[in-house]
Parts: sequence; structure tokens; C-alpha cells
Amino acid sequence: EKGTYPHYMLKEIDEQPLVMRKIIQKYQDDNGELTIDQEIVEAMNDADRIYIIAAGTSYHAGLVGKQFIEKIAKIPVEVHISSEFGYNIPLLSEKPLFIFISQSGETADSRAVLVNVKEMGHKALTITNVPGSTLSREADYTLLLHAGPEIAVASTKAYTAQIAVLSILAEVTAKSRGLELNFNLVQELGIVANAMEVLCDAKEDFEDIARKFLSTTRNAFFIGRGIDYYVGLEGALKLKEISYIQAEGFAGGELKHGTIALIENGTPIIALATQESVNLSIRGNVKEVVARGANPCIISMKGLETEEDSFIIPEVNELLTPLISVIPLQLISYFAALHRECDVDKPRNLAKSVTVE
Ligand code: F6R
Repeated sequence: EKGTYPHYMLKEIDEQPLVMRKIIQKYQDDNGELTIDQEIVEAMNDADRIYIIAAGTSYHAGLVGKQFIEKIAKIPVEVHISSEFGYNIPLLSEKPLFIFISQSGETADSRAVLVNVKEMGHKALTITNVPGSTLSREADYTLLLHAGPEIAVASTKAYTAQIAVLSILAEVTAKSRGLELNFNLVQELGIVANAMEVLCDAKEDFEDIARKFLSTTRNAFFIGRGIDYYVGLEGALKLKEISYIQAEGFAGGELKHGTIALIENGTPIIALATQESVNLSIRGNVKEVVARGANPCIISMKGLETEEDSFIIPEVNELLTPLISVIPLQLISYFAALHRECDVDKPRNLAKSVTVE
């Protein structure tokens, strides 16, 4: 039920702090330590390479998950779009583990790959919001998102839940391998939940940003570097699917290799700046587009901000920034769609779960 909310999407965006806390609780043991089924941890440790397979928003969560698993657990990861992997299987490593990420657990493109890799004799883990879903039943192992039903077609809380579960999977695996971690994930995710609340309380700011940057535009670009680039891809998908504004996410450094030709007077550029190591270079990219007339909306993180920024998100662990930097993008898309009188919860041409290949 959406209760007093005008749309499920807004309700589901607002549920994200709660979902974070639920996930922490569901994945904690009696001593407060994060824990995951031993057989899943063993499957992670047996693998010489992990293949993440997903579509759409879940694919974008997979891109972030790769960073966690490689940086925290030190296992190499490839991320593939299900429909591409299906007919163009890459050269696999000797001991692959497949991770399927799917909110619904019913996406036909992902299922086709799962059937295929099971036939090849490989192990598969499904990360899904729906217990008993097809992808869950057909995989060897399942990790649940505990996000509660997601009704709006545009995925929001499932994306952040997928990222949180992937961070826990990476952390628990790292610990089992005796790797030293310089942060306490339970604490860090708690900080994330609080920061999410701050952002959900700032709706008016995001409505203003949507009005200022997106009310009449034909197109919009999202730029970022590293993990911010991946969040930009998700921001662009959210915006196009519900507001029908043509939107693309780009790696900051790629602009000059072609995309910058599209910049005209007033073209909105939404830039994410949450990573200290690339703060200067992404701001350099913003200058390049501003010099060509772009209208920049910079969303930075506390500690990295400058006076030109449109919004500053609270500080969280730099690996976990996607969990909070996506919320402004979700809300900006929501308000842009609202201002354009689009059907927010049921965008044209889309279904909640895509059960055809
Ligand atoms: C975007 C969206 C889709 C899904 C994609 C995969 O907001 O909802 O891109 O993410 O169809 O769906 P699942 O995760 O159910 O496999």
C-alpha cells in the first residue's frame, strides 16, 4: 500500500534508510558480526573469478559490486549484461562463480544465462528480492535483499539493497580469507542509513534542481569518474525511463572523445563528485562543458565541496558513496517526471519484470 504517498516510487525511495537497517540486522549474527551462509563463502573462496550477470538497474548495482569484491575481497570480477552474455560467452576462467543480480528473480535474459551456466556445470548465486523466484530456485545459493515489495517500475530501493548486500558479501568473504579491513562495515552502513535519511528529508532541494535543470530540456548528461560514473549510468536510466528525457551517463574523461560535441547552450550536465582521488579531474571536466555553454549541476560529498555545487551529500565511506549519491538522482528523476506529467509508477512501454528474452 502506498498510504499517504502520491506514488510508490516516492514511498520506495523513502524506505531506503529502513531497508539499510533491516539488511544490517538480517545479516548480523548473535555477536553483531556480519555473516553469510558458510557454503556461499566457500563458493566465493573456491572461485578464481566471479561473473556478475544482470540487466538494467541490477547491472548498474553489479558494476558497483565488482569494486567491492575486487577491492575488499581481492577476487577478480567481470560484470556482464545478461542479454549480451547469452549469445557471446566470454572465455571463462577455470573456476568461475556466477552471481545473478535480479530484483524480481524472473528476468528472462538472466534466467537464460543461468540455465546455460548450470548446464556447463558451474555454480551460481542469485541475489534477489523475491524468495522462491525462478532465479533463486534454479541457482545453487540465494542471498535475499529484504527490501520489501518494489511496486514502482523504476527500481530504487532494490538498487541500494543490492549494493548493501554485495558489500556484506565482499566483507564476509574478505574476513574468511584473513584479509585486514580498515573499516567496520556495520558501522559504515549505519552511517549510510542516517545519511539516506538526511537526503530523503531534502526533497524540496531536489524538486528545485529538477525544475531548474530539467523542466524543458530535451536531453541531459550525467558524468562521473570511477564509482561515480556507475552511479551516473543509473541516474541516466532513472531519468530516461520515467521522464522520457534523453539521458546518458559518461565517464568524465570520455567526454572529449566525442560526446562533448552534443553540448549546447543550456544542456544540463549532472556531475557527481564524491571521490577524493578524482575530484580535481571531474571538476576539470565540468569546466570543459561549461566553456561550451552547459548548465552544470554538481552533486558533491562533504569535504570535497566547492561554492559552485548544487547539492552536498553527507560524508560516508568512499566505497559506499553509491548508496547515497543515487538518492538525489532518484529524487531529481521523480520530480522531473512529475513536472512533465509523466506516469511515474508505470512509465510507457515498460513492465516491472521482463519475462521475455
Ligand atoms: C530500471 C529497472 C530495470 C530492471 C531490469 C532488471 O529501473 O527497473 O532496468 O532493473 O529490468 O530487473 P531485475 O532486477 O528484476 O532482474
